[in-house]
Amino acid sequence: MITLIRNISSLATVNTNGKNYKIGSEMQDIGEIKNASILFDDKILWIGQDSEVDNYIRTNKISPDNIINANGKTILPGFVDSHTHIVFSGNRSNEFGKRLRGATYKEIADEGGGILNTVKATREASLETLYNNGMKLALNAIKHGTTSFEIKSGYSLNLDGEIKQLKAIKKMKDTLSCEIKSTFLGAHDFPPEYRDDREAYIDLLCNEMIPEVAKLQLADYCDAFVDVGYYTYEQGRRILEQAKNYGIGLRLHADELGDVSAGKLAAEMKCSSADHLLFVSDESIKAMKESGTVACLLPGTAYFIRMPYANARKIIDNGLITALATDTNPGSCFTENMQLILSLAVINMKMTAEEAISAATINGAYSIDISHKTGSLEIGKNADFAIYNCDSYIDIMYHFGINHVEETWINGKKFEFNNF
Ligand code: NIG
Ligand code: FE
Repeated sequence: MITLIRNISSLATVNTNGKNYKIGSEMQDIGEIKNASILFDDKILWIGQDSEVDNYIRTNKISPDNIINANGKTILPGFVDSHTHIVFSGNRSNEFGKRLRGATYKEIADEGGGILNTVKATREASLETLYNNGMKLALNAIKHGTTSFEIKSGYSLNLDGEIKQLKAIKKMKDTLSCEIKSTFLGAHDFPPEYRDDREAYIDLLCNEMIPEVAKLQLADYCDAFVDVGYYTYEQGRRILEQAKNYGIGLRLHADELGDVSAGKLAAEMKCSSADHLLFVSDESIKAMKESGTVACLLPGTAYFIRMPYANARKIIDNGLITALATDTNPGSCFTENMQLILSLAVINMKMTAEEAISAATINGAYSIDISHKTGSLEIGKNADFAIYNCDSYIDIMYHFGINHVEETWINGKKFEFNNF
């Protein structure tokens, strides 16, 4: 079925002319068309000025039922949330309360809370519960304009539990029409059973867990939390090398709590992305530029755990492929709203509105290897976009903290929330 949306006040194509990512000053150009029309079936067939579309309608019959007037509305490509932990069980609002009374994220983790708190609840949960919890957050993200996801395991830290989480993600892939990539994050923390023998857990990860995950083909990527108090540079390298041996893609939680040269490790291992980067060194930035590793920035996390924001200006101005994502998780950033992430990025990381949109769409898509299909509105790509009830994309950041999305369209179909 062919649909035409016309009289769109502002449509940002985020066009890359086939390059499929943007760096430096290219991020500033989001290909805005005012008074636009877009024609699509499941893929985009044509985009242009509304004034040019009448000829097309005359020669190609489009039922009036399939013509939508978007007067006063804005269209952006669907957000690509390239870093989420939405499949978990439990609730850590009690820890949040403690943090509000002065405890730090690290103090809570040192007391056995934090990630391990969620690990306990996730181990006890059924696959069905994990699937339902993940779906609830994904549906809410879609309501806020997200059309593609990366989703990580990492809240079980044992073979059966991690497989259960990855199977819940697989079930989400099978249910939702979105592009979804899955990541094995067995190296998120050290499980309580291996508290005093961390190397033995790394043996388990490398000798049993990675081979099994690969055999079951449950993960597109492997990730590790290489940071102060978590995995060391060398431990991270061992895990990534083993994942690479098994043909799994690589990404990394890097330099969130301190500089441990994790950005450099990500570059050396040719990871698709290094994420967080609050404390990334100049040396790591240089290495990431050379390797083409995407810098995925997660301003919601800096906000939520009251940390200094990543230096987005330096990262973008050095020509790194820069993405923005939510990091949705129950401890360090509990939001699935990408519009809010854009607001945080422009206010607190000094990104321009256009850079934030490029980072949240095409560059996120590039980092999870789907930018040839989605992340920008170009002929032949998936018709994945959201319709915003405002005149221009700038309003999404200007009028902040509310949901501007009126409809989300995935593969050319209006997403029907009532079906779930
Ligand atoms: O991405 N950095 C490590 N992991 C998560 C936090 C997970 C949690 O607190 O549950 C993050 O910030
Ligand atoms: Fe994370």
